[in-house]
Amino acid sequence: MLAGKHILLIIGGGIAAYKTLELIRRLQDQGARVTPVLTKAGAEFVTPLSVSALAGTAVHQELFDLTAEAEMGHIQLSRSADLLVAAPATADLMAKMAQGHANDLASTLLLATDTPVLLAPAMNVRMWQHPATQRNIELLKGDGVSFAGPNEGSMACGEFGPGRMAEPEEILAAIAAELADGPLQGKRILVTSGPTHEPIDPVRYIANRSSGAQGAAVARALRAAGAEVVFITGPAAVRPPEGVQVVAVESAREMEAAVQAALPADAGVFAAAVADWRVASASDRKLKKSKDGLPVLEFAENPDILKSVSQMKEGRPGLVVGFAAETNDVVENATAKRRRKGCDWIVANDVSPATGIMGGSENAVTLISDDGAEEWPRMGKDEVARRLADRIAAALAG
Ligand code: CTP
Repeated sequence: MLAGKHILLIIGGGIAAYKTLELIRRLQDQGARVTPVLTKAGAEFVTPLSVSALAGTAVHQELFDLTAEAEMGHIQLSRSADLLVAAPATADLMAKMAQGHANDLASTLLLATDTPVLLAPAMNVRMWQHPATQRNIELLKGDGVSFAGPNEGSMACGEFGPGRMAEPEEILAAIAAELADGPLQGKRILVTSGPTHEPIDPVRYIANRSSGAQGAAVARALRAAGAEVVFITGPAAVRPPEGVQVVAVESAREMEAAVQAALPADAGVFAAAVADWRVASASDRKLKKSKDGLPVLEFAENPDILKSVSQMKEGRPGLVVGFAAETNDVVENATAKRRRKGCDWIVANDVSPATGIMGGSENAVTLISDDGAEEWPRMGKDEVARRLADRIAAALAG
């Protein structure tokens, strides 16, 4: 996946630095070459010897290192890579970057570079939440810097919250997304995903069992194939993929507005399990128990997002792909659904509880198009997504 790519990996000072050793391994497994840079604080957590042994090359540590300068000056070092990654990226490193400081090797490399930069922040939760850190992140995003994580969870310091460094696998996915030069380069694709929540009152809602796993996998695969992805997601159980533009929504109507705002696009993949109905007049106060009997909820029909995009007269994406969640007569129902909605393809799946597909990690789908129904064997949702991304790439190229 990363064959021939060169990563300049800056290891900052944080307990998460041990995970970066694993990242070096994973990058090499993917065929990437890693040039490691260890900051002074980073060397308090992992040794130069373990870093260079894993990377199979010398580790750079000093700004004023005559031997290193004689071999490759730091300016050249900062530009010879395809991507600069800092993991863990500390609050201090990000502050230096945001202000343009260059007082050690890591900050100098980051200032002197003209290659893309990806940061995997790791710090105490209060440091992460501090307005100064958040301000720096906004500045860095504005400068075009990308981020992987941080994750939420319990931390080495005993606190809980955002600030844990993303897992090596997640950083790897973000790196792959940054370096994607696949067949969907230059294509803009929107993906809807997850369930929608339809409010009953301010504290209650109607939902469904979609985890958002299939939609997230599709977005990840499209991004890995080089597409610019707008990922419009309801309240899903899985994390959105790295490297995509995330638009978080709750209800079907919010999802529709987000889709309209994200157009135009070369393709749209509608994997969300959108609620067909909403409560006609959701209460703006919490419904209370009353002697007068049970509340009666009246429903109104939600907009059909897939249908309205499929039937757009102007600005319709070149390829519109729907999903069909069925519990019986899958191919028959999905074929009729494709015709009714007017989309180009339907990815149909059987969501009866016995299949374990809804909320599970596997899927068994049938791709329905003008060419008929093509049954795919049961496989991981990631694999379904990769195959679909390949098909989409072929269709958009043709
Ligand atoms: N969909 C949508 N907007 C809706 C309902 C569904 O965009 N209001 C999309 C889904 O994202 C999916 C496809 O339409 O791509 C089919 O969803 P599904 O729930 O299977 O179909 P329904 O339209 O709900 O049809 P039915 O109730 O007949 O199963």
